[in-house]
Amino acid sequence: FGHGALAGLRVVVSAGPTYEDIDPVRFIGNRSSGRMGFAVAAAAAQAGASVSLVAGPVSLATPAGVARRIDVRSAAQMQVAVREACQAADIYIGASAVGDYRPANVSALKLKKSAGAPLSLQLEENPDILAGLAAQSGHPFLVGFAAETHDVASYARGKLRSKGLDMIAANQVGDGLGFEVAENALTLYWADGELALPRATKDELARQLIAQVAERYRAARG
Ligand code: PMT
Repeated sequence: FGHGALAGLRVVVSAGPTYEDIDPVRFIGNRSSGRMGFAVAAAAAQAGASVSLVAGPVSLATPAGVARRIDVRSAAQMQVAVREACQAADIYIGASAVGDYRPANVSALKLKKSAGAPLSLQLEENPDILAGLAAQSGHPFLVGFAAETHDVASYARGKLRSKGLDMIAANQVGDGLGFEVAENALTLYWADGELALPRATKDELARQLIAQVAERYRAARG
């Protein structure tokens, strides 16, 4: 625990994609690199928090000052790790891109082609990590992200309400922003306010986000 806006607070950050296995060699994933979430974890540590970072499959080094890193693969594994870490946390920031669906059956053997016939995969919904936390009593202050291609404000405010969040950071993906790239732009929404953080590096945006999270956390929880 250092000095700074989050001194004395325990923060859990999730980052990166999830991989949902189809068979021993194939999976369903997404384009999250983990860069945004790792930048958020670094900024929270710089602000004095004790940070636990739950990371999906990414190729990034653990940022300096992060106390604990838990590597996971699937959404189900991410949920277990986040829940465990959140039992003793003041703030959870979900920057991970959690797969909404997973194959209903994981094949133990490599699937083979069958003479030009189409292949169907049956998918079932993954649990929602943030909404699950929000339903538990004594849960941490909850910050979500929203990645949208259109109607960003209305989808973001919808997720703020439906998932029971304290704050959401929305990014419009595309145009060199969002997934994989070094830059992003965020708009923060909470129940009675919003703040646009214009295009900048993910490191810079993470610092600005953490300053706002610290302020909203103190306002809500003293
Ligand atoms: O990793 P990068 O390449 O740097 O890219 C960064 C990012 C674009 C992935 C990141 O900034 C971002 O927006 N992350 C959230 C992407 C996303 O999947 O959003 P969503 O609208 O599907 O989910 C909304 C929120 O619910 C997120 O906080 C997500 O972590 C959470 N969620 C979603 C599904 C689920 N089953 N459980 C969840 O907790």
